[in-house]
Amino acid sequence: MKQLRVLALVAENLVPPDSLEGHSEKEIDEWKTEFDVISTLREMGHQVEVLGLSDDLTPIRSAILKRSPHIAFMLLEEFHGVVTYDQAIVSYLELMRQPYTGCNPRGLLLSKDKALTKKILAFHRIPSPKFTVFPIGRKVIRPQKLKFPIFVKSVIDDASLAISQSSVVYDDQELADRVAFVHEHTLADALAEEFIEGRELYVGVVGNDRLQTLPIWELWFNNSDQPIIATRKVKWDRGYQEKLGVETGPAKDLSEATQKQIARVCKKVYKALDLSGYARMDLRLRPEGKVYVLEANANPNLSYGEDFAESAEKDGLSYEDLISKLIGLGLRYRAPWKM
Ligand SMILES: Nc1ncnc2c1ncn2[C@@H]1O[C@H](COP(=O)(O)OP(=O)(O)OP(=O)(O)O)[C@@H](O)[C@H]1O
Ligand SMILES: [Mg+2]
Repeated sequence: MKQLRVLALVAENLVPPDSLEGHSEKEIDEWKTEFDVISTLREMGHQVEVLGLSDDLTPIRSAILKRSPHIAFMLLEEFHGVVTYDQAIVSYLELMRQPYTGCNPRGLLLSKDKALTKKILAFHRIPSPKFTVFPIGRKVIRPQKLKFPIFVKSVIDDASLAISQSSVVYDDQELADRVAFVHEHTLADALAEEFIEGRELYVGVVGNDRLQTLPIWELWFNNSDQPIIATRKVKWDRGYQEKLGVETGPAKDLSEATQKQIARVCKKVYKALDLSGYARMDLRLRPEGKVYVLEANANPNLSYGEDFAESAEKDGLSYEDLISKLIGLGLRYRAPWKM
């Protein structure tokens, strides 16, 4: 790939240092994705300008006008502290006629709203758990069709915010309590859905029009029989991960037919939600073999060694190859301003 001018857009508090030296594991965890992507881009010979942002768009405009970057590398996950504003940032990039990596505004908007996502999946007859939404400030009245056990989470938040083993509830009192907890801790409406007992699978999808699915990944616990739920602690607490023996890796013992079916479903979801660039689908697999889509994550975590990059590696795509691929997709994405 020729040498490119890359504008890396990152959260102001996650601008990584030039080297890992002298930083604790805990510090590194905070900005590891940003560090991995930026240092890799530099090692590949690209000229990278890193822009830390929190609540002002002016620096983006100035940087674009001053340097005409070939590509903006989108690593921002929020603006003004609001996680749904990432779509506004890429909208702004489109208004500036600036190519960028990752998902387009429409795909981000649709996939961030888990309830809207599920309505679209239902139209396409893609199985996802039955659900209802309990808005903040309204009484919790469970629809008849929604049976226990029920899983309660925020309708928009990610990174398993407010998700623990207590997210599974077994009666109306527990449901009301957990909904109140989600309202209070996420300040978002609560999504209550059928709890799908079974295995937890992740599938990376890469592409704009022609889609590639990455090998199916699985989460499991080596030292615990508790239900496989990717809680906040399972995702971020190293001590807890060790205690449970949390591991992710290629899904084991899936028949060829199931693997094909899962890949097909994931591509269908990607298209139904108008995604582009790259995404990771979160799925559940019931013991009898039925697959449910939990959600689609546009612009998933790109850290080196994390599930998405690991599964790409399993498919023969090195981290450098993956980053180059995402840049290529960003450059080729047919944004309306190009038409
Ligand atoms: N209906 C459900 N049945 C069983 N488990 C569920 C259900 N919904 C969520 N979970 C569990 O909770 C985890 C987090 O849920 P979900 O992926 O919707 O939230 P998230 O916060 O957006 O996660 P992230 O953005 O990190 O992927 C899932 O990976 C799964 O383990
Ligand atoms: Mg998820």
